[in-house]
Amino acid sequence: MWQVDGYGRLQYTDEGFPFPVDPPRVPADDPTAVYRRTVVLPKAPAGERTVLRFDGVESYAEVYWDGAYVGMTKGSRLAAEFDVTDVAHPGENHLAVKVLQYSDGTYLEDQDMWWASGIFRDCYLLSRPAAHLADFHVRTRRLDGDRAELTLSATAAGAPEITWEVHDGARPVASRPVVPGTDATLVVEDAHFWNPEDPHLYDMRLVVRGPDGTVEHVPHRLGLAEVTIAEGRLLLNGAPFMMHGVNRHDHDDRRGRAVGMARVERDLLLMKQHNINAVRTAHYPNDPRFYELCDRIGLLVVAETDLETHGFANVGDLPRITDDEAWRTAFTDRIERHVRAQRNHASIVMWSLGNESGYGRNIPAMYRRCKELDPYRPVHYEEDRDAEVVDVVSTMYSRVSQMNDMGEHPHPKPRIICEYGHAMGNGPGGLAEYQQVFERWESIQGHFVWEWCDHGLVAVGDDGREYHSYGGDHGDVPNNGTFCIDGLVFPWQEPSPGLLEYKQVICPVRVTWADGVCTVANRRWFTDLSDAVVVVETLHDGRVVGSRTLVPGAVPPGGSWRAELRPDVAAHGETHLTARVLSTAARPWAEPMHELGRYQVAVADRPRTPAGPTAAGSVTTGVEGTSLVVTAPATGDRFTVDLLNGDLTWRSRDRELLAAPPRVGFWKPLIDNHQQENDELWAPRFLSLMQTSVRDVAWRERDGAVVVEVSARIAPPTLDIGMAVGLTWTLAADGVRLAVTGEPYGGYRDIVPRIGLSFAVPAELRAVDWYGLGPGENYPDSRAAATLGRWHSTVDAMFTPYVVPQDCANRGEARWMALTDPHGDGLAVRAAGSGPFAFSAWPYSAEAIDAARHRTDLAAEDRVTVNVNHRVLGLGSNSWGSEVLDGHRVRFEPFRFELDLRSVSGGASSYREGTAS
Ligand code: GAL
Ligand code: MG
Repeated sequence: MWQVDGYGRLQYTDEGFPFPVDPPRVPADDPTAVYRRTVVLPKAPAGERTVLRFDGVESYAEVYWDGAYVGMTKGSRLAAEFDVTDVAHPGENHLAVKVLQYSDGTYLEDQDMWWASGIFRDCYLLSRPAAHLADFHVRTRRLDGDRAELTLSATAAGAPEITWEVHDGARPVASRPVVPGTDATLVVEDAHFWNPEDPHLYDMRLVVRGPDGTVEHVPHRLGLAEVTIAEGRLLLNGAPFMMHGVNRHDHDDRRGRAVGMARVERDLLLMKQHNINAVRTAHYPNDPRFYELCDRIGLLVVAETDLETHGFANVGDLPRITDDEAWRTAFTDRIERHVRAQRNHASIVMWSLGNESGYGRNIPAMYRRCKELDPYRPVHYEEDRDAEVVDVVSTMYSRVSQMNDMGEHPHPKPRIICEYGHAMGNGPGGLAEYQQVFERWESIQGHFVWEWCDHGLVAVGDDGREYHSYGGDHGDVPNNGTFCIDGLVFPWQEPSPGLLEYKQVICPVRVTWADGVCTVANRRWFTDLSDAVVVVETLHDGRVVGSRTLVPGAVPPGGSWRAELRPDVAAHGETHLTARVLSTAARPWAEPMHELGRYQVAVADRPRTPAGPTAAGSVTTGVEGTSLVVTAPATGDRFTVDLLNGDLTWRSRDRELLAAPPRVGFWKPLIDNHQQENDELWAPRFLSLMQTSVRDVAWRERDGAVVVEVSARIAPPTLDIGMAVGLTWTLAADGVRLAVTGEPYGGYRDIVPRIGLSFAVPAELRAVDWYGLGPGENYPDSRAAATLGRWHSTVDAMFTPYVVPQDCANRGEARWMALTDPHGDGLAVRAAGSGPFAFSAWPYSAEAIDAARHRTDLAAEDRVTVNVNHRVLGLGSNSWGSEVLDGHRVRFEPFRFELDLRSVSGGASSYREGTAS
């Protein structure tokens, strides 16, 4: 794509056409490229045909051979072939292709992605003998028993007969002659049907013998798959199924849509590794090899064609050309070319007529053309809202409650949600709640997260450093900014926390435990659990104390298996079971013992023995100017409290332990999924600019400790709303207890990003240990993949590299956490009575994260920012979809929490072992 290679200009819009809307006309100054290639050809045998093929050219191309016009093509992500037999000759041939960025076809190609053009997929020459296969269509029908009936329609040039052969590996299954132009059938006994869990492929071959002795062999990898609809349900080979899917665009962060097959293959393997069983080719056909890979590794495909006219929504007339007879052939051509090219793939479960093009007469015309070419597969088009013509009813971004309503009152046709869970930035949250609803109603048969990959493109900053760019970074106006950075996978093709969450939510094996019985349920649709083992670990206060491996065996789809399991319950403290489900099978995407998912249950929480009296003694106290100075004799820790503003400093082992004093706060760096809440609730109230006014600082000695009470008001400018906050510090010989209370005043009780405490520690304190949810980032509505345990990481490793920096790194349900330097010295925080806390530790300040537009905007700081939060708002996916669900909201309401803080030396483990409770 020439814009990615340094010519022309990149532009990103979600839906707006980047030029005046004046169909079918496009700008007179139309960026144009000329590609030229000298092709040296051998002398061709008599009668051989030479075909020039393009797998993708955007958006309009004219082909010239030795300077003479051969033809033109439109339909950017559809293949085009030109028979160049009559112009091709032995020796040097000159191929020239003129490509225009914009054409009338552009009005049909307004997908939410970068505007870029060129010959972006393979371009090659095919030699075909005079007698050759013209086309074929093979389909499967499941007969009673394990028999499959195959029907082949094939056409050929120059041959009266075709030989049709089917092999299963080395074993011949059938072979028979076929007369071109007629239908032929074969019955496969003991058929091994194809499905995404067991993508078995036969080898089919069509052999065309010419009278001149030439033989053309056309191989095809044949999967026996039949999709039917019965009683409102989609069936694959007679069995119901659900698509746990994603929407995938072609994207490579260095090449745009010119993705190489290595990248495509890694995308698909990553999907399989993460339990995804379906992919929608949003919103255009892919390279032909994409479908072959899906056949081979087992992914169901919602095969969408290249159609989106979304920009007409901007002028208030989305169906303008969709309902215009003059455009009819342009519409039907797009489904025709797609279906003809891909209809033999087992992986394709349904066709999709396109996306966001409104509804009008050209849609039924496309549907009819599609059915003529493939009467068997169901057809999807989301904007046929009530499935007037299409076979599957579909919506996008319907909320959990709406999905539940639609499940409760099913449409006569099967339902999918073709987009949901907008994965922009940090998120999506709330996938688990969606999944519960999807699984409740059998009419809901597919759900596709938007979207697979961030569309960030590598760009180089003034300082020579690379960063990932988005709309507006290339001087492009208008643009939709960061809206294309909305994938489960980073532009550098690594999973984001959202993908790990999704993997767990759709885990095909479910493990539960109650009353001494462990149940393993098979949530697959086609295959049993003979490859699955479940490793169950017993944890006492997060430490693994025992492990057992369960082997459920050949549990059929939908079935479950039980085993008695009575873990050793800790005499004191918490007991949990963590079950890890592993697959012993070697797969193209996974080594044996690949983890499919993990579950955890709380078994017991028994009272602890009360801590005995410590021999720490009493603190010594003195006032120096306006500071209260408190020293703990045993540790030598020295605290000063500023008696004017309540700020605490803490000197421990010749170092200031706090690089910034603890402050109560309600703001955290904005995530994309909270942008709407920010626009509606927070920005108008300046919640990111709240000011702390300390009203009173009082202290007294009590039981050998010092108690300092700070009262403050935390409130935004211009308004009379805020929170009256009280901090009670108990500075004792063996540590610090902090109790925080809040009482709102004024009229705001709606949601806030968090309620918590922030401070900073010196930059050397980068090792993080905790007992809480981990190991990965988790939030209240995105914690399926996390389990309670004792985890270790570093401040740097925990900072998730979102393309647009935003709040990240949260770890919930923490009982304690410690930040230490390489000597093991540092600071520990423990939940005290008010339940676990959530924390994050960042290499950057909240202000720096909020201000950064790209990762390269973040500069190293001499401190680590620590947030210990009482409550953190869920993520939701409201950058384009679901608001944070009620149960995961945090409101500006009264609160109280307590923490113990302690200096540690000689490693967090000393703290853990000594005081974990
Ligand atoms: C949908 C659309 C997608 C994408 C998404 C937002 O409405 O179909 O192409 O634009 O919204 O990211
Ligand atoms: Mg769109």
